[in-house]
Amino acid sequence: MKFLVTGAAGQLGRALVRAATSADVVGLARSDLDVTDREAVREAVAGLRPDVIVNCAAWTDVDGCELDPQRAHLVNADAVGFLVDACDEVGAYLVHVSTDYVFNGEASEPYPENHSTDPVNAYGVSKLAGEVAAGPTATVVRSTWLQPGDLPGMVGRVLDSLAAGTPIQVMDDRRACPTFVADLAPVLLRLGSERVAGVVHATNAGVTSWYGFAREVAVAAGHDPDSELLVPISEADLGSSRPARRSVYSALDNSVLRDMGWEPMRHHRDAIAAAVADLTGTGA
Ligand SMILES: NC(=O)c1ccc[n+]([C@@H]2O[C@H](COP(=O)([O-])OP(=O)(O)OC[C@H]3O[C@@H](n4cnc5c(N)ncnc54)[C@H](OP(=O)(O)O)[C@@H]3O)[C@@H](O)[C@H]2O)c1
Repeated sequence: MKFLVTGAAGQLGRALVRAATSADVVGLARSDLDVTDREAVREAVAGLRPDVIVNCAAWTDVDGCELDPQRAHLVNADAVGFLVDACDEVGAYLVHVSTDYVFNGEASEPYPENHSTDPVNAYGVSKLAGEVAAGPTATVVRSTWLQPGDLPGMVGRVLDSLAAGTPIQVMDDRRACPTFVADLAPVLLRLGSERVAGVVHATNAGVTSWYGFAREVAVAAGHDPDSELLVPISEADLGSSRPARRSVYSALDNSVLRDMGWEPMRHHRDAIAAAVADLTGTGA
């Protein structure tokens, strides 16, 4: 089974290339393959003849997309169509990665895959158009709040603040499912190798806010989760500095994976504890 990962220099792309150790995997960063170049995409796919393409290429700057929706559409939607056409030419299967931002965030329970979409910003609009471009014969995997596997990320920022005694502000009025790319990557590879078509939600278990996340980091590192160094703030505290609206609630129900009987991804609390152990050198 040969995998091609696009956007391979991003946090999820890097995790996929690391996870696909037992498979033949080629990771192409933007500098190797610009997915908005239709002809380059066709040539790369025709030359490599992968069985599965996992598209991790995206313009993920939510505020940038708001300011330049045309570019957002080109990268996040048109390019998906180029990949679909290239897949068709060689019989490859597409796994396309999408986002909770396709929902309006007005729910109070995790969104199942079949919930109606209603993006509230240009990034979400472009990602929804990407899902449509992927079409019903690809796997469209939505996830939320991705956490890196090879960089300190949010876990590292909270640890640094606690260790240095410097306060850190963390949002407490948005909720979703923090998902560690090291846990998501094997799910994407399996979805591709088994060609599970349709929309699939894939997140670590558990719903929390960034403040809740920071508290879990504190607990795992042996600090007081009620520490005054962890300062809960709200979206309103940021004023009107951010161009794009954000969803308040975008937890995803992994109902398709559950119905297929797949092992649930571990709770984010356990993934946070593992990341803390790695970063503090206390892991096994
Ligand atoms: N981050 C999250 O919290 C989150 C949550 C839910 C879903 N997702 C989805 O997960 C996927 C992966 O996101 P990520 O967090 O890994 O994002 P990321 O770290 O920003 O990676 C995206 C990668 O795509 C590349 N890229 C941008 N334009 C490209 C182009 N025209 N051709 C080829 N590559 C291009 C970027 O390269 P440059 O850096 O050089 O531009 C970057 O390496 C995306 O589909 C995203 O929508 C992300």
